[in-house]
Amino acid sequence: MAETERAILGFLQNNAQIPDSGQFSSDHNLDHDQVKDVIKRLQAFRYIDAQEITRVVTWVLTEEGKKYAAQGSPEVQLFLAVPEEGSISMVELKKKLGKSMDFAWKYAKEYKWLELENKQVSRKVQHVEDKVKRMLLEIQQGKVIDNDGINFLKGRNFIKEVKWNGFCCIKKGPNYAPERTIVSTDLTRENLQNWKELEFKEHNFNAKGAPVKAGLLHPLLKVRKQFKDIFVQMGFEEMPTNNFVESSFWNFDALFQPQQHPARDSHDTFFLKAPCTTRTLPEDYVERVKRVHESDGYGSRGYDCDWKREEANKNLLRTHTTAVSSRMLNALAQKPFVPKKYFSIDRVFRNEAVDRTHLAEFNQMEGLICDRGLTLGDLIGVLKDFFARLGMTKLLFKPAYNPYTEPSMEIISYHEKLGKWVEIGNSGMFRPEMLRPMGLPEDVQVIAWGLGLERPTMTLYGIENIRDLFGHKVDLGLIKRNPICRIGI
Ligand code: PHE
Repeated sequence: MAETERAILGFLQNNAQIPDSGQFSSDHNLDHDQVKDVIKRLQAFRYIDAQEITRVVTWVLTEEGKKYAAQGSPEVQLFLAVPEEGSISMVELKKKLGKSMDFAWKYAKEYKWLELENKQVSRKVQHVEDKVKRMLLEIQQGKVIDNDGINFLKGRNFIKEVKWNGFCCIKKGPNYAPERTIVSTDLTRENLQNWKELEFKEHNFNAKGAPVKAGLLHPLLKVRKQFKDIFVQMGFEEMPTNNFVESSFWNFDALFQPQQHPARDSHDTFFLKAPCTTRTLPEDYVERVKRVHESDGYGSRGYDCDWKREEANKNLLRTHTTAVSSRMLNALAQKPFVPKKYFSIDRVFRNEAVDRTHLAEFNQMEGLICDRGLTLGDLIGVLKDFFARLGMTKLLFKPAYNPYTEPSMEIISYHEKLGKWVEIGNSGMFRPEMLRPMGLPEDVQVIAWGLGLERPTMTLYGIENIRDLFGHKVDLGLIKRNPICRIGI
């Protein structure tokens, strides 16, 4: 390549132009394809100017052309199929000649070789000349035939052109030099260190990077990451949410959820068949939880009914991540008190009818702050801060009910795109009936809130049906195409 390049640039130093790249190649004993490549490259660097040209140099037979050169043209084959004397039926001829019959008949009729009477075909001349076959053979032998013949054979798709492609008028370009300086293309450490000595190829810094082939994240994971970052920026620690299977005790009883509560019904909860019960529970604590449910715990009247251990032992797929919060708070109560800010984002399960907005499994995000003397004002303040980081600044709080929080508030936000208020989460202050049996000091309060991950993801990515986001019907292309997630203002 370097030799070819030198030959071209060197020639132009003493000559005004190279008229033809083909001629130049044979004069200098160079490979024409290589000469063409070098011309293209030198042209790109503007060392030379050149014009690309294409010429038809010769004609060759197509597969069909080869067949008729050997067997004779279709019209002559047709002529020969008709008996010298008498006639043959059209039907019979079609059977003999097959597909080529239609064209053959067109020409034989035009040349007045044959005639058709009462569906019978007979000869009109005694002898015909196969001009097509003769021309095809001549082309095959490399002879030149007239333009009419070429056009005729080309029109019938019996011949095709062979083109020659090269360059003409090759002259010096604006950057011409007898020798090309090799520019550095890569921005390597070494090249950058020697930048003063080197000449760099111009870089297109606006070019798009090659698409990444693997390691694509699902939209839910991208949104989860954004939420996680917000929690972390606010100083929250992540709770371990690795067990999907939980006992009813931690999922419900520890949260002061009465054993007769409808959410504990199998219509709402997936209970496990095997192992159907938990093996261990902290007995002292269970005793205190039993007392607070039944009657006289910590100034509460409880639910005034029997609390059954069998009910608490039942294993289930956790219905909310608050089950993890109850475990964490109980663990916190076992040591001298330190304030904590915890969060979790993980999967929960509910025995619900699946439709375009509900699945039997989804992700919950939960945040809680445990400290002395917290008030509802603190909860409202934290929620405003949290949701402002998501770009939601118009919030309303609506009184609600949860067995484990009092007061409880539904969080409602004004959705700018939808132009209406939508429910975005649930919150409250954990009840003393939940915190005191754990052993947390009396002046310690816990403010908490929870929200789903799927809804905000669907809004962010414009997905209308939750089954297009999660589950076996998800189009994998969705995962390849979706952009990175950017939440907030
Ligand atoms: N556990 C609640 C739910 O599943 C969310 C919640 C968490 C509510 C914390 C209040 C406090 O909807």
